[in-house]
Amino acid sequence: MPAADRNAVSAADVWYVGVDQVPESLAVLLDDRDRVRSRRILREADRQRFLAAWVLTRLVLGERMGVDPAALGFDRTCAHCGDRTHGKPVVETADAGPDFSLSHVGGLAVVAVSDRAVGVDIEDATAGERPPTSALTERERAACRGYADFARLWTRKEALLKAVGKGLQIHPRRVEILDSTPVALPEELGRPEDFALCDLVLPAPYVGSLAIRGPRPSLSVRSGAELVDDVVRLVPGLRSPARG
Ligand SMILES: CC(C)(COP(=O)(O)OP(=O)(O)OC[C@H]1O[C@@H](n2cnc3c(N)ncnc32)[C@H](O)[C@@H]1OP(=O)(O)O)[C@@H](O)C(=O)NCCC(=O)NCCS
Repeated sequence: MPAADRNAVSAADVWYVGVDQVPESLAVLLDDRDRVRSRRILREADRQRFLAAWVLTRLVLGERMGVDPAALGFDRTCAHCGDRTHGKPVVETADAGPDFSLSHVGGLAVVAVSDRAVGVDIEDATAGERPPTSALTERERAACRGYADFARLWTRKEALLKAVGKGLQIHPRRVEILDSTPVALPEELGRPEDFALCDLVLPAPYVGSLAIRGPRPSLSVRSGAELVDDVVRLVPGLRSPARG
């Protein structure tokens, strides 16, 4: 993809990459804090997902902000309790940086970037059989015909909760979404009409949603494999597993 296309301004950009497309050697892009976090992750598969998501996030933000991806720092202070390790990550920068959100599940990692508060969430639509109903309101339950419907609805709820930086501190039943429109929210989050939700088209079996504060954005969803390959080509000694 030409660099000009990648830089085209749109209100919300979503990039995805297969976890196995990001070589472990790209851990050189992480900072010390991320490397410590990564080392604390016990399962190999979870560690690879973390690496893929944060390498992609750094490459996308680095390109958008015109800075070295490895030089970016992130603040993860939790707005609820002040702990510095588990809040919504934001870019540490002197100027106002873009808002971003990431999600990693199974073999896929996704990052969404926008100038407005944004949240993204993905799920494997084939990961279960029966929809777990405790997270749903009665009207949502009635609209959910199977696990794939549930997975989509869940990503809409979680994307909205990630956009506002709360995550599952708020019970997902308190966010009611019907036909991809928020219809009820806890008062502290604002009015349902203050948010827009967009379904994302992702490689099967993944489904995903983006939530954004304000009107429906112009949305682009694209693969970040080329971004990864470009950096692999630039850094001597790195090999891309995607190209062998
Ligand atoms: C954020 C959360 C919804 C993630 O759900 P998930 O489906 O398991 O995982 P996903 O891959 O979709 O998203 C994980 C990413 O969300 C981001 N994230 C973490 N907390 C977040 C928050 N409060 N708001 C928005 N995004 C958040 C992180 O980037 C995280 O990735 P990382 O751990 O690799 O940095 C869930 O873990 C959560 O709610 N955490 C907050 C819990 C909390 O705050 N408890 C109260 C403490 S006082």
